[in-house]
Amino acid sequence: MVHIARTHFAEVARMSEIPDGGTRQVEVDGTLIGLFRAGPKVYAIGDVCTHQEAYLTEGEWETEDLEVECPLHGSRFDVCTGAVRILPATKPAVAYEVKLEDDVIFVGPPIKRV
Ligand code: FES
Repeated sequence: MVHIARTHFAEVARMSEIPDGGTRQVEVDGTLIGLFRAGPKVYAIGDVCTHQEAYLTEGEWETEDLEVECPLHGSRFDVCTGAVRILPATKPAVAYEVKLEDDVIFVGPPIKRV
């Protein structure tokens, strides 16, 4: 299957719907994406753990370290980059661009890794 990278920003939620320190699962073009709010900022990474089947938005979200712990086996992911900080997962999560316009949250294309 050929995957064509999404280039547009999609409106997914409102800031007022997600409390500070809260999470929200959204779906964009069939992909489940987790939103993680820390104060005035929102981060977005793929919500399905790259190790097995678990939703990261159901895990422990640490706003100070900007990382989320998978509820199943405890892998930790950096929500800014999707990088794995603690095993057993080895594959990074996809991190997405996020744009805020007033109260509205938009999720954009994956952040390119360098
Ligand atoms: S399913 Fe997430 S660490 Fe295993």
